[in-house]
Amino acid sequence: MNLAKSLQNIQPSYIREILDAACAPGVISLVGGLPANDKFPLELMAKSLKDLPNRPELFQYGNTAGYAPLLAHFREHYQLLSSHEGIVCTGSQQGLDLIARSFINPGDTIVMEAPSYLGAIQVFSLAQANIESISQRCDGPDLDELETCFATSDVTLFYAVPDFHNPTGVSLVFSSTPTGRFLVSEI
Ligand SMILES: Cc1ncc(COP(=O)(O)O)c(C=O)c1O
Repeated sequence: MNLAKSLQNIQPSYIREILDAACAPGVISLVGGLPANDKFPLELMAKSLKDLPNRPELFQYGNTAGYAPLLAHFREHYQLLSSHEGIVCTGSQQGLDLIARSFINPGDTIVMEAPSYLGAIQVFSLAQANIESISQRCDGPDLDELETCFATSDVTLFYAVPDFHNPTGVSLVFSSTPTGRFLVSEI
């Protein structure tokens, strides 16, 4: 059976390669965002983990959007507008993939800072988007280049990492986006 065309030219995942290298014996890697094992809040989690056998309902099929009490907590914590819905993802990449599936058609233009987060590049490449890059400066993306992109191309989405950008570490604040276009920003 042949692989789907969208997968035939797919590049290996850089993130998987980085994590493979980071897990090699004797390597102390500062490349992947791996927390130190002894920094996980295991004591804090112990009570809930011990209680799991008494909560079989947690292992049952559930709502696709996620565990309702958790969603309610997020709604309150993040002060979600009543017009917005939350969804629990297994990680940012699943969230980005859902966004790409929902809003990106093959050939649509996505603008990204260069360099940018490898996981996002991979998701948008799989969605067969046309990726345009703008320079990343010491205070964030070059806004002149961004404006030119929006003025000269039919941009569907601008993906930005505004806080502690990966890999440059730059933070910035956006006050507005060009009308009718879509900003995906990782928080
Ligand atoms: C910009 C950015 N988003 C997301 C992630 C990973 O997020 P998650 O663990 O939720 O997939 C990273 C990890 O380095 C990142 O740099």
